[in-house]
Amino acid sequence: MPPTVPALRIGSHQIWPPVVLAPMSGVTNRTMRALYKPFGLGLTVTEFVSSNALKHTNKRTMEMIDQHGLEKPVSTQLWGDDPATMAAAAKVVRECGADIVDINFGCPAPKVTKTNGGSACLRDVDRCEAIMQAVVDAVDCPVTMKMRLGWSESDLVYIDVAKRAQAVGVQAVTLHARTARQFYKGSADWEHIARLKSAIDIPVIGNGDLEDPHVAMERMRASGVDAIMLGRATLGNPWLIAQIADLMEGREMRSMPSAADRLRYCIVHYRAMVDEWGEARAVPQMRKHVALYLKGIPGAAVLRERIMRIDSADEAIGVIEETIARVEASAMVAA
Ligand SMILES: Cc1cc2nc3c(=O)[nH]c(=O)nc-3n(C[C@H](O)[C@H](O)[C@H](O)COP(=O)(O)O)c2cc1C
Repeated sequence: MPPTVPALRIGSHQIWPPVVLAPMSGVTNRTMRALYKPFGLGLTVTEFVSSNALKHTNKRTMEMIDQHGLEKPVSTQLWGDDPATMAAAAKVVRECGADIVDINFGCPAPKVTKTNGGSACLRDVDRCEAIMQAVVDAVDCPVTMKMRLGWSESDLVYIDVAKRAQAVGVQAVTLHARTARQFYKGSADWEHIARLKSAIDIPVIGNGDLEDPHVAMERMRASGVDAIMLGRATLGNPWLIAQIADLMEGREMRSMPSAADRLRYCIVHYRAMVDEWGEARAVPQMRKHVALYLKGIPGAAVLRERIMRIDSADEAIGVIEETIARVEASAMVAA
């Protein structure tokens, strides 16, 4: 069967399938990106990195832009409100291997917006334009931009900012179809994504609330976007990516693995995190992932509470192994 959608093209990058893993701060480090890539991602994006912090190149900041090598092409995302600082940061991340530089005009977190970064930039579209121009001029790779609809419902600037992006040479735009004021409340409004797609010629990546493979394909078709970006729904469920990739490849969609196999993969994820980041950093980060892999498993609430209190990787993996044995034993009884 032929593919059901075309590849996404950003500069010289042919991105197939047109599925992008959303940048998620504290989540999409190089380990996560490399683990998730083979499920069927065309592109992965780093966590956002402060352009100011990149002036000092401390260890934690450099870890955030580090790549695994398995997950290429990688887009490195920057935030900041000063065009010159953003341009300098773009040069640094390009030298460190970024295939694409992405500008963040979407983050609604107060610690970012209080310094006029992230979505706060959308309150000053001239500044957005100056930042985009400076970054495009600074690097020899494609520059993309990710934004929300605007700061608030009464100030929806996304079409204006996207047109300016296109005019200064930005090569793709991602829209998370909520306002900054909304944070994560309500739902992403894909009508706006469709409107953006018809307003500009550069590729548009649609983002927000894609949780089901068929709904994701339908949203992509109805809005006409060139690619979709998946965030929260992939956590604990990377098989969502594989199912969507199947539909894009024109194959029959695979079914979800059994609960036991999902938990086996959770252990693979856990071990990869411990190997790369050490137990003290991996264990707290893995709590939220384990909680999500446990979704739908009988007794998940009690297990989650147990996992939250455990500080040892071996002990946490032991609890997951016990759960696999229990789930398999009850499946045998039921058969
Ligand atoms: C924990 C978390 C961290 C995030 N960090 C970033 C970030 O660093 N940069 C960014 O552009 N968006 C960030 N986002 C927003 C996501 O990229 C995405 O736009 C949003 O979650 C909506 O997509 P979804 O409904 O598929 O999750 C973050 C979201 C979450 C849940």
